[in-house]
Amino acid sequence: MNIRLAKVNPTVEDLMGMQACNLQNLPENYTMKFWMYHAMTWPQLSFVAEDRGRIVGYVLAKIEDPAEDDKEPEIHGHVNSISVLRSYRRLGLAKKLMLLSQEAMASIYKAEYVSLHVRQSNKAAIALYRDTLGFEVAKVEKKYYGDGEDALSMRLSLILVIIQDCIISK
Ligand SMILES: CC(C)(COP(=O)(O)OP(=O)(O)OC[C@H]1O[C@@H](n2cnc3c(N)ncnc32)[C@H](O)[C@@H]1OP(=O)(O)O)[C@@H](O)C(=O)NCCC(=O)NCCS
Repeated sequence: MNIRLAKVNPTVEDLMGMQACNLQNLPENYTMKFWMYHAMTWPQLSFVAEDRGRIVGYVLAKIEDPAEDDKEPEIHGHVNSISVLRSYRRLGLAKKLMLLSQEAMASIYKAEYVSLHVRQSNKAAIALYRDTLGFEVAKVEKKYYGDGEDALSMRLSLILVIIQDCIISK
């Protein structure tokens, strides 16, 4: 098993693998243009788990531009999507993918926190974010999803990661 940055060049194979994994696992699906835009704009933030050349898990993330949202003026990362194929679950892959992305958000972009949305009914993902990674619920967004389900908007401060990086680099 190999966990590494998602690559766009020389081919878009990684992105196709991520898209295939997403289609199998989640109702929220995206066009190839969307995957490509994220991987090219924030190439340090999206990671894949690969088993013998097959993408079996991914995290797709971005940096929110504070200039575009005066309600959330701090630089922060946002996890758009994460999934792991069923037969590779409970091996710690999602945790590793999240930690790698969070570390890059803090060290490269000095993101103060990371945010994400999760379906209120998604017990596995909520356990991963809250119990394993330490996220907290910032608010409930009513009818956030296309089918009318509410989303938990969750956040995790990255300030400690930034401080640790500063100490290590001195
Ligand atoms: C949520 C998901 C990404 C977790 O991936 P994973 O690789 O199995 O997660 P990990 O092995 O890293 O789990 C880390 C911790 O998360 C929690 N967790 C993960 N799956 C869980 C489950 N089914 N039930 C309860 N807790 C769970 C546990 O605390 C686990 O630690 P433990 O195994 O030591 O108990 C995976 O279940 C998935 O792809 N689901 C479908 C897609 C999805 O819902 N994505 C999230 C959208 S917001």
